[in-house]
This record gives sequence, structure tokens and C-alpha cells, in this order.
Amino acid sequence: MKRVLSGIQPSGNLHLGNYFGALRQWLQLQNDHECFFFLADLHSLTTVRNGDELRSLTLEAAITYLACGLDPAKSVLFRQSDVSYHTDLAWILSTIIPKGLMERAHSYKDKVAKGISATVGLFTYPVLMAADILLYRTDLVPVGKDQKQHVEIARDIAEKFHHLYDEAFVLPEPYIPEDVAVIPGTDGQKMSKSYHNTIPIFTDETQLMKTVMGIVTDSTGVDEKKVPEGNIVYELYKLVAPAQSDEMAAKFREGGYGYGDAKKDLLSGLKHFLEPIWEERRKIEARKGYVEEVLDDGAHKAQAEAEMVMAKVRGLVGI
Ligand code: TYM
Repeated sequence: MKRVLSGIQPSGNLHLGNYFGALRQWLQLQNDHECFFFLADLHSLTTVRNGDELRSLTLEAAITYLACGLDPAKSVLFRQSDVSYHTDLAWILSTIIPKGLMERAHSYKDKVAKGISATVGLFTYPVLMAADILLYRTDLVPVGKDQKQHVEIARDIAEKFHHLYDEAFVLPEPYIPEDVAVIPGTDGQKMSKSYHNTIPIFTDETQLMKTVMGIVTDSTGVDEKKVPEGNIVYELYKLVAPAQSDEMAAKFREGGYGYGDAKKDLLSGLKHFLEPIWEERRKIEARKGYVEEVLDDGAHKAQAEAEMVMAKVRGLVGI
């Protein structure tokens, strides 16, 4: 049994990139590993500038975790900001990290290029993420490919700490199944809120239809034979309706099956896939106070776990 930890920033509504790139693996891992999944609200402070908005996005993300099937009886679900050891450890780690290591992180440059303010917090974001991971003696970090470098940085930081002081941490490894490493958005780039190309997990049917009909396709005619692989409609269909995807692939290869037809099939596959999650959400919302209860309970469990590593670290560094 391994220790598993991961988180998602609640800085917008979660989408299929988050689902297939992260949540789906979490759902599998929670059945036979010791799992900690959190809402990275401290990380979201680098982009969300309104307290009420962040609070409601964090709650929304917690509902999404539960509606997708994360089970508080199997996994510890908590809010990052409820366990102040995350920021304590981040500071201690920041005192041993060479600035050059942060300068090599590509996500900072990508984010600044997308217009996010170049704050100190955004720059040192991987330090907080390393603290998140190392505090829980994590073996495996299930994430999408875009986060791989951050997990490697956490590992480097742990090794540096061990070299300077003594053993305190477990060296983490990323867990990234190849088929879901990068989920494409409606324009074929990586699905991401900042590219405005997402398919949100929670949306209404009209919006879902508009989004699906807006997926970018090439200009191959209806009658022509098409290569399914690499086609966004097919790639998404494979994820939401794996049992039917061979059928779609065959229709594409035969010809006489246009992108409009494929989009209709994708839309019905998506509805079929999302409806149980929407239904679960309705049940969760009917249980007043339930989400807060789950998060409070998770905070206590996470706090108790993090405390042990933190006590060791404090002892080693002399505070
Ligand atoms: P975030 O919030 O950007 O994304 C959450 C998770 O979703 C994955 N993901 C994708 N995977 C495949 N294809 C996509 N198009 C796609 N879009 C998003 C991300 O890889 C991620 O796994 N820094 C992290 C949050 C974090 C964290 C941590 C994660 C903070 N501390 C500690 C793990 C461990 C982030 O911004 O993810």
C-alpha cells in the first residue's frame, strides 16, 4: 500500500482535463492506497483576487470531488489552507532551494506569458507544492503531464534537505498514465481554463451542445475516409465512451461519417458519462452542511499526519 497525494487548484470550474488527467486516477487509487486529496486554495491565491469568489470556488471544487466519487471513508479530503504546516514547511524549504532551480520551472514562464501577474508567490509556487507533497511522506503523486516537473522539483528539494540536514522525507514519484497525460481541449491545445477551450464537468445541456459543436475539426468532406487517431472528437469520445470508441473509429475509416455526426455521438456519450455525476451532485447539495463536515474531518486527519513530519523538520533545522 502506497501513500498517494494530489490536489487541484480551485481557480475555476473543474473540467474534463482535470477529470481524466487527475481525478479518474484518484478514484482508482483510493480503493487500495492511503490517499490524501486536497483543494489547493493557497495556490489559487496567485490568480483569484476576490475572497468571496475563492471561498465559493473552493466549495464548488469540493462538491466536484465528491460528486465524481471521491469517498471520505476511503480518502482524506481537505482544504490546503486548513493545515498551516503547508506554508510553514514551504518557508523552510525556500531557504535551501537555489534560485536557479525555480528559474528552470517552465510553468511560471507559461503562466506569465498567458497574462498572470508575475508575483513572488507565482514564482515560488513549486516550493509550496513541494511542501504539500513532502509533508505527507507521499510515494505517488497522480497528476497530468504539465505537473511532472513540479513533482521532480519536490524530489530534488527533498534530496537537498537530506544532504544538508538528515532524512525527513519520502522521495515522491509522479503517477501519469500515458493515455491521459495531456487531454486536448476543444481547439486541440491542452485543455486549460486559461485557453478557454474546456469542457466543464458541470454545465447545462445547451451549453454542452454549443461547446461540442464548436470543437475544431479539419475540412475533410463527409464522404471521405478519415483517420480517427489525433482527431479531437474521437480522442474525447475514447475517454467518455471507451466501449463504443472502436465503432466510431471504424465509421471514420469507412467514410460517409461526417464530423457533425461524430459530434452528435460525442454529445450523447458525454451526457451519458456526466449525468450520473450531475445526479450525485444533486444528492450532495440536498445534504445541508455535508461538504463542510467532510472538509473539517479531513483537516483534522491531515493536520495529525503533517504534524509528525513537521516536528521532525523543526527538530532538524533548530526551531
Ligand atoms: P491544476 O489545478 O492546474 O490541475 C489539476 C490537475 O489536473 C491535471 N490537468 C490535466 N491533465 C491532463 N490534461 C489536461 N488538459 C489537464 N489539465 C489539468 C493537472 O496535471 C493536475 O494534475 N499545481 C497543481 C496543484 C497542486 C498539486 C499539489 C498537485 C498543488 N499542490 C501537490 C499535486 C500535488 C495545479 O496547478 O494543478
